[in-house]
Formats: sequence, C-alpha cells, structure tokens
Amino acid sequence: MPAAVTDIVHVGLAVVDLAAEVEFFTARWGLQPVHEHDGCVYLAAAGSTHPYTVRLRASAQRMTDLFGLSAASRADVHVLHAQVEAAGARIIQPPAPSDRFGGGYGFRFFDPDGHAVEVLTEATARTPQPVGDTDPIPLRISHMVLHSPQHKQLERFYREALGFRLSDWLGDFMVFLRCNRAHHRLAILPGPPALNHVAFDVASVDALMRGLGRLSAAGVELQWGPGRHTAGNNTFTYYSTPNGNTVEYTSDLEDVDESTWQPTVYTPSPETMDQWGTGRIIPGNRPHAELAADKGLWQVPA
Ligand SMILES: [Fe+2]
Repeated sequence: MPAAVTDIVHVGLAVVDLAAEVEFFTARWGLQPVHEHDGCVYLAAAGSTHPYTVRLRASAQRMTDLFGLSAASRADVHVLHAQVEAAGARIIQPPAPSDRFGGGYGFRFFDPDGHAVEVLTEATARTPQPVGDTDPIPLRISHMVLHSPQHKQLERFYREALGFRLSDWLGDFMVFLRCNRAHHRLAILPGPPALNHVAFDVASVDALMRGLGRLSAAGVELQWGPGRHTAGNNTFTYYSTPNGNTVEYTSDLEDVDESTWQPTVYTPSPETMDQWGTGRIIPGNRPHAELAADKGLWQVPA
C-alpha cells in the first residue's frame, strides 16, 4: 500500500538578522518562543499540537533550511522513505529516532530541486491553547508555495513520492496539492527553485482583518490583500518579514471531500487571484519577494 504524508508541520529559516526575525514572528506575528538550542530558536503556533512551527537561526545569507511533513505512523515513515528513494531523491538521513527538539521518528531527504525535507511521526505533542474566533494569532501552518524551474516534475514528485493529491490548477501555471482535507498544503509555480511564501491559518476573516490592523499599527506594511483567492476560496493578506521572507495570514481555506473532489483548471485572471477585487486597491502591492534560487538548496540542515 502506498503511504501519504498527513500535514505540513514546520519550516526552518536562516536569516541575517535573527533578533529582528524573532521579534517579528513573536511580537508581531503571534507565535510563541518554546525552545532555543545550538543557535536555533523554535517558535510554536498557539493552536497547533506540533512542538514548533517555525525554526529560525542566524546565517550570513537568508535561506530556507527545511520543511517538515508529518506521517501517521512509523510504518508509513518506512513506506514513504522507500517511495522517496524509488523516486530518485537523495536521502540525507534514513529513518531513525530524532534527537532534535520535538523528537519523533523520521527521515530527511532533498526533493528534486534541492529543498531539504523531513518526514516525522510521533513528535512530542504540545497542548494547544484556546484561540478565540477573532484573535489574530496563527493556528498552524496553512500552506507553503514553492517556485520550481520544472514545476510539473516537482508536482509529480510530491504526488508520487509523498502522496499529495491534485486539488486544482490555475492554468498550467500554478498547481494546488493537498495531503489532508485542506484544499492545499503545497502549491507550486514556475520560477527559480525557491520558497515563495509560508501561510498561517487564522480562525476567521475577523481574525485576518484584526491582524491587518494590528500589524499596520506596528508599522508592518501590507504587501498584498486583503482578498480572497478562488482556488481554495481562502482569504489572504501578505507581508514581508524584516529579513525578506514573505508570510501570509489566511482563513476559511476550503475543505475537500476526498471521495467526490474533481480538480478544476481555473483561467488565470485578476479576478481569479482576488475575487473581491480589494487586493488591487492599494498602490504598489508587491505580492512576493524577488525571485532568485534559494541559498539553502542542497545544504544539509542542522
Ligand atoms: Fe498563499
């Protein structure tokens, strides 16, 4: 039986100004510092049972260190490892107990573009805190978007090796993949191999708008939004962190019924990207960071 990952649980980022990034993700974004070890700062999302959601460390250059995916069991970890190996990916570390913060059992590999990825099960669960329906506090990672010079091949890899399922296409330009009921946990666009943005779920449109107000008052400039996408029907507001990472608050991402879902190919248009039209009001919108290959590709992460 093929196995599939069950979620995206964390992302590791290396930044030039660590103190500024930690300050942003805690005081502004609403994550909580939970651990610090060997120069890595671990931040958790209040609504998540995963031990941490963002891992930050200092580096001479900004880069993406790794993405963490969860699996349901050790047996699935072993099947996923075999699938990843069969797909020709380079293994960094075969399945083993993890002695890193959060524990668990898993393996690490490079995807075909060179992003380091880890698949983990049995991570030490944290007790989530109650988050009110209108609190502008991240519940968890919602999705990640990658650029790839071979986006169709990368899409095939994530489907065949890791069990992602196709939700929708935007033309033949952007593909939306799911690994649980959420419409997308991963999306892939053409471009140099790089992370486009990481999105965090908030509880409601009210929470998203309160977040916009709070961040604006703190001098964090809105880069794109507020709006509602068509694929996934989720709301969006995009911001840049002090080190130039693009992050998103999103809400209301559609749930998919696995037994009946039929993928749609949407025609790309301003209205498809932004149903309300509100994301186009603010002049100088800059939806995404400038594109260059990620400095973290093929680097074995800490
Ligand atoms: Fe997004």
